[in-house]
Amino acid sequence: MIYLDSAATSFRKPRSVARAVARAMETLSSPGRGGYESAMLASDTLLECRLALQRLFHVPEAEGVVFTLNATHALNIAIRSLVPPGGRAVISGWEHNAVTRPLHALRAELRVARGRLFDDAAFLEDWERALGEGADAAVCTQVSNVFGWALPLREAAERCRERGVPLIVDASQGAGVLPLDAEGLAYAAMPGHKGLLGPQGTGVLLCGEGQTPEPILQGGTGSLSRQQDMPDFLPDRLEAGTHNVPGIAGLLAGVRFVEEIGVDAIREHERALCRQAGEGLAAIPGLEVFRGPGQTGVLSFRHREIPAETLGETLSRRGIALRTGLHCAPLAHESAGTLETGTLRASFSLFNREEEVEAFLAAVEEACGGKS
Ligand code: ALA
Repeated sequence: MIYLDSAATSFRKPRSVARAVARAMETLSSPGRGGYESAMLASDTLLECRLALQRLFHVPEAEGVVFTLNATHALNIAIRSLVPPGGRAVISGWEHNAVTRPLHALRAELRVARGRLFDDAAFLEDWERALGEGADAAVCTQVSNVFGWALPLREAAERCRERGVPLIVDASQGAGVLPLDAEGLAYAAMPGHKGLLGPQGTGVLLCGEGQTPEPILQGGTGSLSRQQDMPDFLPDRLEAGTHNVPGIAGLLAGVRFVEEIGVDAIREHERALCRQAGEGLAAIPGLEVFRGPGQTGVLSFRHREIPAETLGETLSRRGIALRTGLHCAPLAHESAGTLETGTLRASFSLFNREEEVEAFLAAVEEACGGKS
């Protein structure tokens, strides 16, 4: 199989990640719940992982690094902490359902800044206009999970700061691939299992200074046990119940790997493969390829006649793993004008090679009828 679905999950991981998970299963018990060795070692692992994430994302306090089940869980906490029912939110037109569904559930009044795909200036203009009337919060994805566009986040954050609107960043496709500075953000949410190379079932919420997040889960924290309100301090306030210790141990190994290789080197490798794939696809008759400046390792394309699902199934039979359809991001497809057809999405990782891209291109060409 040629795995080109790293935007869904980084399926190929460093060996150290699986080893760390297995070791944790054998040596770590419940963190913060006992003074014996295996419990203390589990607490140490959590702390080390928090510190590694704090370093990578410049989080002011390690306590502000909160473990969640996934990015969706983290986004739900952030959104519910800032947007009251019926409140007002500004969002980019490139958000995932993990952002839009929680806001819909709150019946929030939305202002959507779309701009044009891969056009930073047009996006910022719309963003500024949308922020104009103020909002309880703004949410911006760092990278579109459909098109790989790295939005102009620094400038978008500046506009929010100028207007005093707290910003939540969905770093699901950016973490481990692009630098992210959490300082000044209200929250940033990310999965552990994509660019950070950890196991599924791990996620992270970075909480900005002065935030008072609302827990969406209540339960035991191993702290202030006589009290029935959740502790008012982080990370305990948001970490009810036993942690996914093997997952977090794996995440720590993944983050260490990312630190060692460096996000710039990872991104450049993925970008080079994406460029190679984009150029090759653009030369295949009948395909429309979505490429542009600021693109990471995520590439969408569609055929003018063959439905995305049909093409995806053919490719799957030929050993190419990629994702088709709406990618849980109908808003992004609406913004790009691809809502009716969806797209095929190829997404690359550090573990993909040029030869795999060549084989992928040959398979697409054949599937499109380019070769008999
Ligand atoms: N949100 C993930 C994706 O884009 C699962 O495929």
